[in-house]
Amino acid sequence: MSALLEVAGLTRRFGGLIAVDSLDFAVEPGEIVGLLGPNGSGKTTVLNLLSGVLRPDAGRIVFRGQAIAGSPAHRIARLGMARTFQLVRPLASLSCRDNVLAGLAFGRRNAWGDAARAEADRLLERVGLGLAGDTLPGALTYIDQKRLELARALALQPELLLLDEWLAGLNPTELDAGIALVRGLSGQGITILLVEHVMDAIRSLCRRCLVMNTGRLIATGSPAEVLADPEVVRAYLGDEADA
Ligand SMILES: Nc1ncnc2c1ncn2[C@@H]1O[C@H](COP(=O)(O)OP(=O)(O)OP(=O)(O)O)[C@@H](O)[C@H]1O
Ligand SMILES: [Mg+2]
Repeated sequence: MSALLEVAGLTRRFGGLIAVDSLDFAVEPGEIVGLLGPNGSGKTTVLNLLSGVLRPDAGRIVFRGQAIAGSPAHRIARLGMARTFQLVRPLASLSCRDNVLAGLAFGRRNAWGDAARAEADRLLERVGLGLAGDTLPGALTYIDQKRLELARALALQPELLLLDEWLAGLNPTELDAGIALVRGLSGQGITILLVEHVMDAIRSLCRRCLVMNTGRLIATGSPAEVLADPEVVRAYLGDEADA
């Protein structure tokens, strides 16, 4: 068994709603896997279950050979899983550099002092925020807040990075840069699970996608395969008809 992440029977209910319904999938080291599905299909809930923000009602999550379902978020982060949030949530009273330093301090290396500051600045530079070290997050544009969010996640030195619509809301130039950045992280050896509605990004980054609808996995395959799948088409058209 060589998967970096293996999920079996993963289930989470909110009252009477089954947001994630008996999900089975695996992610191999080095992959960029797309997680798609219409609004409300359960994608963010899956990331919350994987990263320990929510506890599953049932199912197994094995990450780097360790059963982590129900483990606290900080333990999962220390094992090497980091994520960005769909709704960005920086520490508002800390500068961008200190936000990243917080990630470094709580991460796998317990970095501190001058070395940590240099590493924080390097990570800010990596995501295109090289000049923003002393800036407060509230002064950043939305896109730059997302960049900061990514730098904080990278400070944990993840082996698996979960991105929740990190590329949403970018203009075409920013999108190209964002895609190149994600590809670069993959080239650096980080495995990526990418929740995304931007199909151009999915097509250019992912060899394999998982598609959810109403909490269930309805298709897996290449972007071209899943986007041609009648059930996937129906799920998305149904979503548009409801909108
Ligand atoms: N904390 C919660 N309490 C109650 N219901 C929730 C909670 N979180 C999510 N849900 C519900 O679970 C379902 C799945 O939500 P989720 O946020 O996982 O969807 P999503 O696929 O990420 O959607 P989107 O593409 O809009 O981000 C939705 O019906 C949502 O309203
Ligand atoms: Mg979501």
